[in-house]
Amino acid sequence: MPVPEPLRPSEIHVEHGRPVERFAARTAGMTASEIRALFAVASRPEVVSLAGGMPNLAALPLDTLAHEVAELVSRDGQVALQYGSAQGVPALREQICEVMALEGIHADPNDVVVTVGSQMALDLITRIFCDPGDVVLAEGPSYVGALGSFAAYQARVVHVAMDAHGLVPELLREALRTLAAQRVVPKYLYTIPNFHNPAGVTLAVERRREVLDICAEYGVPVLEDNPYGLLGFTGRVYPALRSMDPNVLYLGSFSKTFASGLRVGWALVPPAVRDRLVLAAESATLCPPTFNQLLVSRYLTAHDWRGQIKTFTEVYRERRDAMLAALETYLPEGSTWNIPDGGFYVWLTVPEGVDTKAMLPRAVTARVAYASGTGFYADGFGSRQLRLSYCYPTPERITEGVRRLAAVLEAELDVMRTFGSASRPRPSLRGPQAPSPDTN
Ligand SMILES: Cc1ncc(COP(=O)(O)O)c(C=O)c1O
Repeated sequence: MPVPEPLRPSEIHVEHGRPVERFAARTAGMTASEIRALFAVASRPEVVSLAGGMPNLAALPLDTLAHEVAELVSRDGQVALQYGSAQGVPALREQICEVMALEGIHADPNDVVVTVGSQMALDLITRIFCDPGDVVLAEGPSYVGALGSFAAYQARVVHVAMDAHGLVPELLREALRTLAAQRVVPKYLYTIPNFHNPAGVTLAVERRREVLDICAEYGVPVLEDNPYGLLGFTGRVYPALRSMDPNVLYLGSFSKTFASGLRVGWALVPPAVRDRLVLAAESATLCPPTFNQLLVSRYLTAHDWRGQIKTFTEVYRERRDAMLAALETYLPEGSTWNIPDGGFYVWLTVPEGVDTKAMLPRAVTARVAYASGTGFYADGFGSRQLRLSYCYPTPERITEGVRRLAAVLEAELDVMRTFGSASRPRPSLRGPQAPSPDTN
């Protein structure tokens, strides 16, 4: 009998259904953010976007960097433009240890793995730890990009609430006790202790030891994600959880302290995890971009990077102040928010009855955009919350954006007073959203 010819892709398409019907089950959890859906409108110049977490790069010394780029190509082009080690450039890994020393971490460069942004480290760590159905603990709310990775690997997120001082240890213990009663040991606790995205709060120093002890008692590793730790407004640098416990899996990034577009981040992990992580990284990207790593390395060598971080924090503090003043001036009664002392975000709770997700298209029509709260929870919670970012727009634009937001809220409240409900609150059945520059 003649062997049949293999099907060509076009015939597969016709005979066996559309390619989308061949997607893996895990893609079902992948959804675009609401603001991305509105992106065409939200990115118009007349719209003030308080949605995005884009760092403000205006303060970077571009001329100096242009010089470094030219030198990198002319002097080290043969290396910079070549494949490199999957673990990252050794000299940069040493410098990364110097950066982490600012937060009390004593690390061996051999335990550092350079990744394409810390997002990649987050994704790969989830890949090597989580099977479908595994449980991950995370603060509620939590970082959209982390929730996206957890969903992509079909992990189940159990949120632990925060208060003004970060993760609440008693609630962490309670969550672990409840899970233990169900014979569930979470794969790890994912936490952002400093200047939280999106909640803006910082884990109190007195709580840090307690959080580590509770996790150790239940045999749960801690995954500390710390892209904002050096961006405090008071000059205070908090001790990293990793500085208190060498078993903590730590993630860092140059995205907020230097240049997000270079996509250089890292993981500092114990050797056994490192070996798996390097293998996973190799299969994902072969190696992180050599050129970008060498550029970061040159920048750290030749430039006053600590002074640059100070400049960034001054810019962000001025913007934070503009946002807080505008919130105080314009927002209707019943709204509450935190006062961040670093980072990029204010987490706002709006008056009862207003659904921030339902309100978003009306806000964008009124030329202001924000990130609604449900995207920061894996369980549909957060419909009364939203995240405002002050990192990117100028203070004047921030003030105008908050003024517009307040007007939208007033209009919602007016409709509620007249008809009982403005936003038709409903539980969100959607999973976590994919991160993107407009909502990350
Ligand atoms: C908490 C948190 N973790 C990780 C990331 C990812 O950062 P990177 O640019 O290093 O991938 C972000 C980016 O906004 C973030 O806010």
